[in-house]
Amino acid sequence: MKITGTGSASPSLTVSNDMLATFLDTSDEWIQTRTGIKTRQIISTEQLKDLAAQASTNAIQQAGIKAEELDYIICSNTINEYVTPALSCILQGMLGATCPCIDLNGACAGFIYALDMADALFKRGNMEHILVICAEEPSRMVDWTKRDTSVLFGDGAAAVVLSKGEGFISFKLSTISNTEALYQIRKLQDTPFINKEEEDSALVMKGQDVFKLAVNCSLNDIKDVLKMADVKATNVDHFLLHQANMRIIDTVMKYMKQSEKNFPHNVERYGNTSSASIPMLLDELNRSNKLKTGQKLVFSAFGAGFTTGACLLEWTK
Ligand code: UT7
Repeated sequence: MKITGTGSASPSLTVSNDMLATFLDTSDEWIQTRTGIKTRQIISTEQLKDLAAQASTNAIQQAGIKAEELDYIICSNTINEYVTPALSCILQGMLGATCPCIDLNGACAGFIYALDMADALFKRGNMEHILVICAEEPSRMVDWTKRDTSVLFGDGAAAVVLSKGEGFISFKLSTISNTEALYQIRKLQDTPFINKEEEDSALVMKGQDVFKLAVNCSLNDIKDVLKMADVKATNVDHFLLHQANMRIIDTVMKYMKQSEKNFPHNVERYGNTSSASIPMLLDELNRSNKLKTGQKLVFSAFGAGFTTGACLLEWTK
């Protein structure tokens, strides 16, 4: 498969570090030094499904197809207002598509998992176009009275249209079960048969544990996808890492001894938008003509689960 269209959409409200410091014991200096984040876009008047529809429409238009031509929609989403139906099903109606739809929850690594699923569907042989849409609102997961998590995230949606062709070269996915370092628990409906106390918590994160895991997994995953394809890191033009934290990106870059110019980033403007972060960055690079046919790209992401994954592709649009 190859990418034939990209699109993204962000909420209208820009929240600066100084704005956060008006209601949290934090500062622009702390946030920028530890994360690189300056501003993030946060959902206020919008709904996630509208951002998802806008991002998808942009990608579909660029691919030069109609929504009715999509053979599958895979949506990477951690939370939205509906537990059921899946966001992809809601989106299908908004777009006017008629294909089967499924959501997956691979947390921040969801884009790579969705691409891997799409790759398997193409290999089955009866698909022409698949929409992968990542739509996330982590601002509705964090506790806005807690400075350790709320300053890190932003909301957004980004999509790619994948079409039959040659582009993706290798994938590596892994999952390491862990419910301690990064999780959120929600309370389910009461029943007459449940006596135990149940919790309803905001997102909990052991930042330093996640940091170490992110760096190690990213380095291993990238090494593996390059080795599988017999490609050297020096021959990769753009490493698109999950935009969680500038320090993580810098650390991976330094261990790999690669040039800063090959590690594009926009975390400073969007914060961590979970699985939407890599396709948002991809859309930005694509629409500013930074991607050239024949260039090699690596995507690498990690998130709650822990889920981690990377893939190598050649840009063919
Ligand atoms: O998609 C995956 C998402 N997660 C990540 O990528 C997170 C990975 N982890 C990180 O990026 C870093 O661990 C953080 C940015 C979350 C935190 O940076 P850190 O250097 O690991 O800081 P820390 O947690 O060790 O906290 C240092 C201090 C603490 O104060 P004390 O105990 O030293 O007095 C915190 O209470 O910084 C304090 N602190 C803050 N201070 C001002 C924590 N959050 C803030 C804040 N503003 N927002």
